[in-house]
This record gives sequence, C-alpha cells and structure tokens, in this order.
Amino acid sequence: MKTLVEFIWEQQEKYGNATGEFSRLMNDMGIAGKIVNRDVNRAGLAEILGYEGTVNVQGESQKKLDVIANNEFIKALRNGRQCAAIISEENEDVVIFDGNIGMNAKYIVALDPLDGSSNIEVNVPIGTIFAIYKRKETGKLVTLDEILNGGIDLVCGGYIIYGSSTMMVYTTGDGVNGFTYDPTCGIFILSHENMKISDLGNIYSINEANYLYFPEGVKHYIKYCQEDDPGTNRPYTTRYIGSLISDFHRNLLRGGIYIYPGTKKNPQGKLRLMYECIPVAFLAEQAGGKASDGFKRILDIPIKEIHQRTPLFIGSRIMVEKAEALMAEYSQDFYETFMKDK
Ligand code: AHG
Ligand code: MN
Ligand code: MN
Repeated sequence: MKTLVEFIWEQQEKYGNATGEFSRLMNDMGIAGKIVNRDVNRAGLAEILGYEGTVNVQGESQKKLDVIANNEFIKALRNGRQCAAIISEENEDVVIFDGNIGMNAKYIVALDPLDGSSNIEVNVPIGTIFAIYKRKETGKLVTLDEILNGGIDLVCGGYIIYGSSTMMVYTTGDGVNGFTYDPTCGIFILSHENMKISDLGNIYSINEANYLYFPEGVKHYIKYCQEDDPGTNRPYTTRYIGSLISDFHRNLLRGGIYIYPGTKKNPQGKLRLMYECIPVAFLAEQAGGKASDGFKRILDIPIKEIHQRTPLFIGSRIMVEKAEALMAEYSQDFYETFMKDK
C-alpha cells in the first residue's frame, strides 16, 4: 500500500528534484480536498445546499459550496506556503499572495474549486479540477503579465472527484496515477497506477440538446457515433452527467469521447481553458488519449485571459481524431470565422 505523500516523494527523488516543495503543495491540495469532501458529503445536513446569492465572474450564480470550496483551497494553499498565487473560477482577478510567500513560492495553482456544482443537490459526482504552474522566476510578487506572457510552465494537471468514492487523479508528465481516499484513516492511497485510456471506446458524451447550434462537423460526428458498424464499436452509447470531471473520469476508465463544442453564439464554448481544459488535456495525453479544440491541441492554445474559454474534444485517440477529421471536412468555415486568430 502506498499513500499519495509517499508516492510524490518517490517521484521527486526519482527525478533528483526532492526539495519537498511540490510534495508539500500536493499535500495541501489533498488537505483542502478532504475538507471539501466532508462538506460535500454533509451538504444536505449542514444547510450548505443552495445559492450563495452572489454571481461569479462568468455571470453564473454561485452555490454556497462553490464559495466554501474556493475558500478552503485558498486557505490551505496560503497556509501551506508553496503557492504564490491562485487563479480560480470563483475570483475575477488572480489571487496574489503577498509577503515572502508571494515573492518566493515557486508555484501558481489554477482551480475550478467545484466543477459540476449544478449537480450538488442531486447526489451526482462533482469535483475539483486543478493545473499547477511553476514560475520561471521568483523573488517578486506574481503579476498578470507573468501569467499571460510565458512566465510560467505547466507542471501538473489533476482533479479530485467526490463520487461514490473520492479520488485524486493527477499527472506531472510521467503518466497518470489515481489515489482513492480512505475516509477511515483520512489518507489517499494509490489505487490506479499508470492509468491509460483505450484508443477506441464506445461512449460519447455531449449535451445533444444543443444539436441545432452545433457546427456541421460536430453534427456529422454525432451521426457517425449513431451508425451501425460493429467493427468500430458503433453505434456507441451516450453518457452525459453534466459535470466535466465526472464525464471525463468515466471516459478515462472506460474509453470514450467528451465534446463541448463552440456554437455560432458562443464560438469558444463554455469550458475554461486554464482550470478546466488544460488539466484534463494534460491527463488525457499522458493516458495515451487526445485533447483538442476541434482543430488544434488544447495544450498549444496560448493563454490570453485567465478566464478564457475553449471548445473541447477529449478522450480516446481514435475517436478524437475522427471528430477532428469531420471538423476539418465540414467546419472549415467555422474555423476561419471564429477560431483562426484565437
Ligand atoms: P461549473 O459547475 O464549474 O460551472 O462547470 C459546469 C460545466 C462542466 O462541468 C459541464 O461539463 C458543463 O458545465 C455542462 O454544461 P451544459 O449544462 O451546458 O451541458
Ligand atoms: Mn467547471
Ligand atoms: Mn465550478
């Protein structure tokens, strides 16, 4: 049996990088995750269901648990002293820590504190999604310019899913590993070593109610998924929970594709690049899958705004490649009009 903390230390030693700072940062993520897990589990009892009465930067109503989760992560990361700034779905501006921590901590965390929060009341899995960036230079407070102009490198992508069991799954670029939380002793234990997504699955996950607004390439792909061809597992089956992280987690384990496309009205789709798409893209690639905006790799999209959105096509390699081929064939005009300069 190996715990999360033991595993991270081993990894750091393997790469001759054992200052312990990253281990401590991940430990802090785990601490906040445990607290949020407790709050999510007790939500119906503790009068923390429902709306906070405020609206976040995306114009979405904030649930009480969105705010609670955000506060817990900020508190744990500040107290842990390894994180210089936080980019969160729930904060319009970068949360920049001051003093010695803000100057000298090496890491910046981008966070969706609670993904799928519209599913809280109905006992459906929700999660925390995170990307960890390493500052190229320390010794000064974090600036927006540093974040948007190449001053940081992606070093980790991951999530914590609060489901029938709670799990942390992450990658630092050396494969994907999953840790299941044992609530009896309060420890994350390595349960899914070196996770891989199959090249071809049979699940497609998309909010098909928006069909009429989808680009032609996406419409063709949906029809392709529904055709009868046992040689390629078709017709596939639809599964859509409506929390990216739950849909992604299932498809990672079972094989499949998740699509949240752009539309003419919202060409960049709904999902946020820095704290939703980049973490899962890093995980998908490390698990042998693919992640694109329909035309190019998610991990190649330049970050121009902290709350930037992007379409997302992610999952089993062959399925994403097929969807990309149909986008290239039928939605070149969509690309030219809405995406070329992004
Ligand atoms: P969040 O709860 O952080 O705002 O994210 C919700 C996102 C994502 O998790 C999910 O896949 C998507 O919204 C679902 O959107 P639709 O309801 O438009 O399908
Ligand atoms: Mn989200
Ligand atoms: Mn959220």
